[in-house]
Amino acid sequence: MNILFASSEIYPYAKSGGLADVSSSLPKAIAEYEKIISVMPLYSSVDLQKYDIKKTNISFSVELKAGFFAFEVYSCDGVYFLKNDYLFARGAMYGDYHDNNIRFGVFCHAVLEFVKLLKIEFKIIHINDWQTALIALLAKTRYGLDAKIVFTIHNLAYQGVFYKDTVDLLEMGWDSFTLEKFESYDMVNLLKGAVAYSDKITTVSKTYAKEILTREYGCMLENFLTTNSYKLEGILNGVDYKEFDPLHDANIYSRYDSVISKKKAKNKELLLEELGLNDVNRPLMVFIGRFTSQKGVELLLEMVHFLKDSEINIAIIGDGERFFVDRFLELSSVYKNLSITIGYNEALARRFYASADFLLMPSLYEPCGLNQMIAYRYGAVPIVRKTGGLADSVVDFATHNAYKNDIGVGVVFERADSFSILHAVLRALSLFCNKDMYIKTIKYNKTIDNSWSHRAKEYINIYKSLTKEG
Ligand code: GLC
Repeated sequence: MNILFASSEIYPYAKSGGLADVSSSLPKAIAEYEKIISVMPLYSSVDLQKYDIKKTNISFSVELKAGFFAFEVYSCDGVYFLKNDYLFARGAMYGDYHDNNIRFGVFCHAVLEFVKLLKIEFKIIHINDWQTALIALLAKTRYGLDAKIVFTIHNLAYQGVFYKDTVDLLEMGWDSFTLEKFESYDMVNLLKGAVAYSDKITTVSKTYAKEILTREYGCMLENFLTTNSYKLEGILNGVDYKEFDPLHDANIYSRYDSVISKKKAKNKELLLEELGLNDVNRPLMVFIGRFTSQKGVELLLEMVHFLKDSEINIAIIGDGERFFVDRFLELSSVYKNLSITIGYNEALARRFYASADFLLMPSLYEPCGLNQMIAYRYGAVPIVRKTGGLADSVVDFATHNAYKNDIGVGVVFERADSFSILHAVLRALSLFCNKDMYIKTIKYNKTIDNSWSHRAKEYINIYKSLTKEG
């Protein structure tokens, strides 16, 4: 069966978050069983030389009310890149550009023009988040394809909402502008339309699939999603075990296989030195991620404040909203046990995993989250809020039979308030002080299978049931 996978970001070529990781590792895992190619925009930030991305002899154009757009196609390793510099040679991948509807809407048209030229009959087109959402409508209407559409929601908070002139500019057809389809409060909501037009909707954990049907997590689409919930399913993401492997990770100081080896301790010692923190005997708690409310950054700030004179080292790496960046910088200039690194730095992030005793993920919501699964590989224990994929991939260490149900073990708290996160940190300390228990935990977590191998099969089963090949 031929499958086309469309995404606005694919690691290592372009990455703003977990979508890029999944868009890289899931197609690779599916490729073990089925024929799959991926397609993404060619941003000017993509390093053609580094990844040996080559120009193909395919070119075409898209002509719409929005304008005339010529595309060239580049490729590398099963990924096709559609190049139009007017749309994608900009400072940021998404940014706050006023024409993001045109940029990604035209990209969706381009994907289907490209499909036409390839002359491959795709049975499945798998699209991801709002940027590729319009493909669902176009495949079924303008392009009249028989392909079944699978739409994965990685984060419901980003829906791609634009003024309704988008309908004309992208030639969507006004019959698609109804409350059952793209219309939302007199605006075009691209994610909503993809829910309507897709044959199957998936999201990245079972718990998040349930949460998005509620008022608390539904981002105003809970009723619409409930109406469409007959085609909704949650599949937990996996991580690429080749990519995240402390035995072969060139970014860390000292590579190791066993999470209790002296080499892991060496990583911690050298990272503390790099960050200007003292005392290897103290537990090191790290946060790796975007500084947005989603990630629970308010809670993190309060926690850091309370722990200022404690015997805990805290290291934070990430980037995001200016307000949070400023707060962190203020605190790190006064607190000796706190290190802040602003900016996305994959190599340093890997050293964080390899050195940490605990990984903090106090997310307010988390569709899946990948960091907790990466932490298991490197021997750091996650401290998480019980939501979305975190609820599905981390069991609290004090739960009955915690070490027996094939789910990694960490410290879990429920309520999003400063008391609860502090309580979780104290419980983590008690675990850390009980060396046998701590070692048992990191060793156990290393045995848990969060790779894509069986989860990719769940997607393949969906593809097969849609195409009746099951
Ligand atoms: C988004 C979600 C995150 C998920 C990732 C990949 O970034 O916020 O929870 O892990 O997509 O699906």
